[in-house]
Amino acid sequence: MPPQRKPIRTAVFPVAGRGTRFLPATKASPKEMLPIVDKPLIQYAAEEALAAGATQLVFITGSSKRAIEDHFDSAPELEAALEAQGKQELLESLHSIVPASATCIYIRQPAPLGLGHAVLCARPVVGDEPFFVHLADDLIDAQVPCLKQMAGVYAELGGSVLGVQTVDRKDTDKYGIVAAERMTDRLSRIQKIVEKPKPDVAPSNLAVVGRYLLSPRVFDKLEKVGRGAGGEIQLTDGIAALLADEAVYAYAFEGKRYDCGSKLGYLEATVEYGLKHPQLGDAFAGILARLLADRLRR
Ligand code: G1P
Repeated sequence: MPPQRKPIRTAVFPVAGRGTRFLPATKASPKEMLPIVDKPLIQYAAEEALAAGATQLVFITGSSKRAIEDHFDSAPELEAALEAQGKQELLESLHSIVPASATCIYIRQPAPLGLGHAVLCARPVVGDEPFFVHLADDLIDAQVPCLKQMAGVYAELGGSVLGVQTVDRKDTDKYGIVAAERMTDRLSRIQKIVEKPKPDVAPSNLAVVGRYLLSPRVFDKLEKVGRGAGGEIQLTDGIAALLADEAVYAYAFEGKRYDCGSKLGYLEATVEYGLKHPQLGDAFAGILARLLADRLRR
């Protein structure tokens, strides 16, 4: 029987970033509110964490992020209007955003000091338990939600678990990159982790992609790391310090990841989710086929 582990109740969503790559769309509205078909990215994020067993959703926010709080709050006037119009299905879609049993907590990051600093802001809520960190830009479509897969690894092995994927060598400077010793096809134990190394010095092309299950000891490390790559307090550096004390595993999750922090990744996700949509998929496929045929004829 696997040993008893502390439950993972909290998921942290760092959402303070500016989203400059999507300007002007993100001038007054958070990038996490960009929709993929009919749901904002942050809702996919919350659903994944809830599916993995989290009951406490902690959003680390910054300026111009109030729309995220509104999204997860009740909207009595809108609900009353939908009720009066008999629009039950739409009403249901609002009620199912977060179950009543889950709690949403918002912490304002006082200054944009980096991802590590954002995670550290969650310490008073997380306390001494393992927790998830989820970056909503990285949308992962998987049969078993990615964080749930990672919780399974943690149940077996304990420690910390990072979601990883191989990337093109030329792109190592966009990611936290790990050097790891293979255990099974999907699992390896991390020896080294570096934030955004140039391709010629990167220890591998295995990249961390926005899913973390972390031991609370990372907080002590983050308190001490100081500024790293880009002059920011990096989560990667806190994890690098953790390696000296505890096991950190790299888990090559099952599923497809879309980099919704880039316009092309975002468009790809929109198209694929559109094609899969139960009501719109067939009609959308027809439109796409026509558009592509027109384009190829030109
Ligand atoms: C952050 C992390 C990086 C990670 C990446 C995944 O970088 O710092 O280690 O690989 O997310 O998307 P960012 O994309 O915020 O620059």
